[in-house]
Amino acid sequence: MPLKTRPLHDKFGVEILDVDLRRLDDAQASEIEALWILHPVLLIRDQLLDEQEQVEFSQRFGKINLHVRTDIRSRSNPEVVLISNLRTEAGANIGALASGEASWHMDSCYKPDPDTGCFLYAVEVPATGGRTSWANLQLAWDSLPARTQESVENLRGEFAYQIYSVDKQTEKGLDGIRTRTPDVVHPMVLSEPRTGRKGLYLDPMQTFGIEGMTPEHSEPILDELKAAATQADLVWEHSWKRGDLVMWDNARVLHRREPFDENVPRLLKRTTIFMPQDKYPTPQAASAKR
Ligand SMILES: [Fe+2]
Repeated sequence: MPLKTRPLHDKFGVEILDVDLRRLDDAQASEIEALWILHPVLLIRDQLLDEQEQVEFSQRFGKINLHVRTDIRSRSNPEVVLISNLRTEAGANIGALASGEASWHMDSCYKPDPDTGCFLYAVEVPATGGRTSWANLQLAWDSLPARTQESVENLRGEFAYQIYSVDKQTEKGLDGIRTRTPDVVHPMVLSEPRTGRKGLYLDPMQTFGIEGMTPEHSEPILDELKAAATQADLVWEHSWKRGDLVMWDNARVLHRREPFDENVPRLLKRTTIFMPQDKYPTPQAASAKR
């Protein structure tokens, strides 16, 4: 029987209903994959997953990634990254982001070989605050004037790793991260392999320039594209509940997180995968075409 779904937003995103990911069969997994190809963000609520089950579910869709930062990985499963404000007895943050705001960005675009598929599972969340929003980069592309589309179609963006919302204490453990993540370039427009549908590929925080252009030339272009990418009517905002799993495609959406009360515990677990290039738009495929 096909999975039941309902829209998350009037323009994009789908919630999958009445499914238990621990008892997923291959037919249901194929259905979820087909939905993900059509919709860059999927929500599945009321799940009870341990880390290994989350890893196994993620691996159904692509090769799993190990995050460049070892200090935020789960000790029992290195494929799992902890997004949390929880601290150890000694006061060290166990995960990334703490309780501050994370402004609009996409994960992994600072890498030469981005792992664009992301699964975020809510273990413990505050009743208020800490909402996450996603902005659709394909609809942003559609909203651009034809003249702008033509002028940026073949450009490549310059990306750098930014350590956002990291407190000073955590930052001490990040020595050498710059040398492990040198700046990279990626095409600024990606296409879906099956339909050719286009979308912007840029990060308001981590795209700092355009290849071959001076900052004076690139900044107004980037400002226009970043404004298009984060326009309010192309955003879906989510209030987390325990047991929620959101899976999204960083090649088709940006995301951000609002701050929350630092005294309220929040723990989410994240896995990321390399999206198959024959099914999803990827910066790797766009680079190979050039
Ligand atoms: Fe993120």
